[in-house]
Amino acid sequence: MRSLMIAPSILSADFARLGEEIKAVEMAGADVIHVDVMDGHFVPNITIGPLVVRAVRSVTDLPIDVHLMITDADQYIHDFIDAGADWVTVHVEACIHLHRTLTAIRERGKKAGVVLNPATSLMTLEYVLTEVDLVMLMSVNPGFGGQSFIETSLEKTRRLRQMLDAVNPAIGIEVDGGIGPATIAKMAAAGANIFVAGSAIYGQPDYQAVISQMKQLARDAAE
Ligand code: DX5
Ligand code: ZN
Repeated sequence: MRSLMIAPSILSADFARLGEEIKAVEMAGADVIHVDVMDGHFVPNITIGPLVVRAVRSVTDLPIDVHLMITDADQYIHDFIDAGADWVTVHVEACIHLHRTLTAIRERGKKAGVVLNPATSLMTLEYVLTEVDLVMLMSVNPGFGGQSFIETSLEKTRRLRQMLDAVNPAIGIEVDGGIGPATIAKMAAAGANIFVAGSAIYGQPDYQAVISQMKQLARDAAE
């Protein structure tokens, strides 16, 4: 999972026109659709459940990246996979039996991702790296779109890339929060390759222009 991918987060889309908003980013060059699931416990916001993931599935063939910001991920991963999730990412901070959770996602034939909050150490990954396809670093505290990028994410991404290269260079690094034309180049240079962007894409009138700009910036920086 090391290719460059742009993953628009539908959290910033117009939910009254969700199907059109997904088609629009697909036509504009999106590689993945990022779906933010929040339960009001793990994060102070409530968003989307499996029902909406099923609706997203019906309008796109792009991979659906389900980011679970919920207390009880184990209880719900199968519902999201049944609804059409291709990638399931779970938070280290929310999974007591993280190894089991990641294994369960892979046993269903899906990509397993593990997510770290800004304050969580990379060391929490040490014993699960054989079970993951990607690691996602939060570059904001999860819960809301449109927050400012936390600068320490840069050094953390660099260190994570070194750590992954030593174990399995095929593991991708996804970054989520405050990513857009102003931040993507430095994160690509640091080693990230999958870029979630909500407000930076859906906040612009021309989705194609911003997605192409972001891809170009990331490509140039990664060289
Ligand atoms: C935040 C979510 C993000 C959010 C990103 O908790 O996980 O995916 O939609 O939004 P932006 O790109 O606006 O920071
Ligand atoms: Zn997210």
